[in-house]
Amino acid sequence: MPGGEQSLEGKVCIITGAGNGIGRAVAEAFARRGARVVVNDVDRAAAEEVVLGLGSDATADDHAIGTVAAADGLLAGALDLFGRVDVLVNNAGVLRDRMLHNMSEGEFDEVIRVHLKGTWACGRAVVRHWRPLAKAEGPGAPNRKIINVTSASGLIGAVGQSNYAAAKMGVVGLTKSWAKELGPLSINVNAIAPAALTGMTEPLMSDPQAAAKRLDRFPLGRYGSPDEIAPAFVYLASDDSDYVTGQTLCVDGGLVI
Ligand SMILES: NC(=O)c1ccc[n+]([C@@H]2O[C@H](COP(=O)([O-])OP(=O)(O)OC[C@H]3O[C@@H](n4cnc5c(N)ncnc54)[C@H](O)[C@@H]3O)[C@@H](O)[C@H]2O)c1
Repeated sequence: MPGGEQSLEGKVCIITGAGNGIGRAVAEAFARRGARVVVNDVDRAAAEEVVLGLGSDATADDHAIGTVAAADGLLAGALDLFGRVDVLVNNAGVLRDRMLHNMSEGEFDEVIRVHLKGTWACGRAVVRHWRPLAKAEGPGAPNRKIINVTSASGLIGAVGQSNYAAAKMGVVGLTKSWAKELGPLSINVNAIAPAALTGMTEPLMSDPQAAAKRLDRFPLGRYGSPDEIAPAFVYLASDDSDYVTGQTLCVDGGLVI
């Protein structure tokens, strides 16, 4: 119900790459709002640790995002356990940063596979499940949500990240195309471009000079924490965002303005 408490009570939410960092904070925030959460991560131990903290309405999944088989397996596990899925968060990701002249084919392919193909495959899996449900329900069907994760690199590019920027720009393309394609089925598709200190970004801050230069780009002067990013995901998963689709929300201290 719009204007409510952004409750996620009863919603089943799949979050990929939720064993650490932003995905973990999103899983915790969703669970606090009453969601039942599928915590996917290729790092099984990390996913299980998150689930332990969330309690009984959560489960761990360790499919390696990046193929149709993994996406289908992830969805099948969620349906087996919870019988429904309402929200998909495509968050899993890796970096293989390298200047163009040194980047290997493997480094290019891996980043494209996890971020771009993985997002596509998971979206495909849930939409193949949702489509007949939405058609049977007709007008007034409850909105279902896909939240993709892009990046400043996917909006403005970044030195040493041409593989990642291409994948994340592709994620924006998926977001806009799916929003147009799936709107008639009451499926909202949005993206978030975060900036937070996590296992992915901490190494970029190890050199003090490079760190200072990096922080200069943030009007708010600092990296966020994963817990500061999570509320935007709660909003886009909740019924409060039923009239928002095809958008990319930067939660990044002003990095992209
Ligand atoms: N941290 C930032 O500032 C920032 C900025 C822009 C975009 N992002 C994006 O946010 C998302 C989360 O990043 P993070 O900073 O929390 O990183 P993180 O490294 O802390 O977490 C990423 C998680 O994804 C998991 N993972 C990697 N490959 C996987 C696969 N194939 N299948 C399943 N799980 C996999 C990892 O094990 C890890 O737990 C990523 O998509 C990243 O590109 C992060």
